[in-house]
Amino acid sequence: MTREAQVLPFFESRGVRNAGRRTGAGRNVRQGAALAKKLFIKTYGCQMNVYDSARMADVLAKLGYAQAEEAADADMVILNTCHIREKASEKVFSELGRLRSLKERKRRNGGSMVVAVAGCVAQAEGDEIVRRAPHVDIVLGPQTYHRLPEMIARAARAAAEGGAGRGVIDTEFPAEPKFDYLPAPGLDGPSAFLSVQEGCDKFCTFCVVPYTRGAEYSRPAAAVIAEAKHLVSLGAREIVLLGQNVNAYHGAASGSAAKEWGLGRLIRELAEIDGLARIRYTTSHPCDMDGDLVAAHGDVPALMPFLHLPVQSGSARVLAAMNRRYGPEAYRRIADELRAVRSDMALASDFIVGFPGETRDDFEETARLVRDIGFAQAYSFKFSPRPGTPASVMAGEIDDDEKASRLAELQSLIDAQQLEFNEGFVGRSVPVLFDRTGRKSGQLAGRSPHMQAVHVEADDRYFGTIAAVKIEHAAVNSLTGGIAETIPAKPEAAEGAAA
Ligand code: SAH
Ligand code: SF4
Ligand code: F3S
Repeated sequence: MTREAQVLPFFESRGVRNAGRRTGAGRNVRQGAALAKKLFIKTYGCQMNVYDSARMADVLAKLGYAQAEEAADADMVILNTCHIREKASEKVFSELGRLRSLKERKRRNGGSMVVAVAGCVAQAEGDEIVRRAPHVDIVLGPQTYHRLPEMIARAARAAAEGGAGRGVIDTEFPAEPKFDYLPAPGLDGPSAFLSVQEGCDKFCTFCVVPYTRGAEYSRPAAAVIAEAKHLVSLGAREIVLLGQNVNAYHGAASGSAAKEWGLGRLIRELAEIDGLARIRYTTSHPCDMDGDLVAAHGDVPALMPFLHLPVQSGSARVLAAMNRRYGPEAYRRIADELRAVRSDMALASDFIVGFPGETRDDFEETARLVRDIGFAQAYSFKFSPRPGTPASVMAGEIDDDEKASRLAELQSLIDAQQLEFNEGFVGRSVPVLFDRTGRKSGQLAGRSPHMQAVHVEADDRYFGTIAAVKIEHAAVNSLTGGIAETIPAKPEAAEGAAA
């Protein structure tokens, strides 16, 4: 699957919330009155950014901002940005160019527009953004968006005093965690994101995340459980636990138990919430797959049999140069352990091709690992040298044509595997949580336990429910079928069996 334009696998987000998902019934702050101020957030990058965008919308809803359908209608536009690869970052500056004309047009018509740049490009580039794009009013990092109301007030004062080039910059890593200052989240559909961990201490040599998101931080277990219960009370059927390194989770214990909780313990506790049918987590690092988390895949039925566990390369030499701290054999062992406790466990991965010094033999090792493991999904990227990272100055740069040809080769291998995996479901009955409208009217789409996108002809009554779908057709990126039966409220104990 090609994923150059997008960092993480299953959500592409357009407006304030993901336009592909449907606004949940519990959500009313977004509609607002006709005279309310209008907000438009465009989100790039990973699910953590999707979560953050939603939380920024929650913060601004308190100031009376309702959702705008497009930037042109908005009084405030936030670009929530991603710095992971060059293409991702550069997109932001072209979008800022477009916003500049919109802002000028609004001003000519007697209106105004506040432009804010949030997220990882904001964190990495700081005031450089205002230098390149003086019409930007606010630059805020991923750890400071709880202070947005104050920033908006400061930006209004700056605009009154002189306007362009006087943007408010707040890219600190404040001591107080933002989660303590955010309002309770709203819900956009039956599958809800919940950030439990942020930042990264791993320092893979190619990656900007430790610099843009800062040091690893885990939210206390009690706060996570309370947010999960709140989301379920609003109608969430599935919770996706998020973190740049989510399985490094080590939250302060809930209640009086002395020891910190790992992700396995947290998942076991969340599985007790009445009405919560499915739990997932993403993205994980192989070194943090501890025994308890692996075991949870065997004994927590609500924990879905799908794991995104990026390996990056199959070559021990390249993995060492990447500072991944594991070798291909350790990765194979984890896959075996997971499949020993849950035989239908599906794995997904990320790959980087053309890392500095990657030889043809190293690349062959990656292809061998792909064939050995058998991935249900995988995303591959050409190495993109990121400023300030150790790999950006490593010797052995790979020619772009060679990178492109390795990428194409790997992707065709992955596509074939993905198709084969999906074809294995034709004729079977699969429980699907319907969480979005389909491409055509009268269609709904949802996810199988193994994270496959499933499209069916079904009316709106099925939205937010889990129904058994008889799979009729498989493609590389989706399944289609027909509804076989509706599954009642707490069906997941039977999900594996139904597949
Ligand atoms: N925390 C996750 C990955 C986060 S970034 C992990 O440790 O695996 C998402 C993916 O982007 C990575 O898995 C990697 O495949 C890719 N990526 C990150 N930096 C990159 C770079 N400089 N060039 C190309 N791909 C990169
Ligand atoms: Fe980046 Fe590595 Fe941290 Fe993942 S584990 S976020 S790739 S530094
Ligand atoms: Fe991109 Fe930042 Fe996520 S760099 S991948 S938005 S953590």
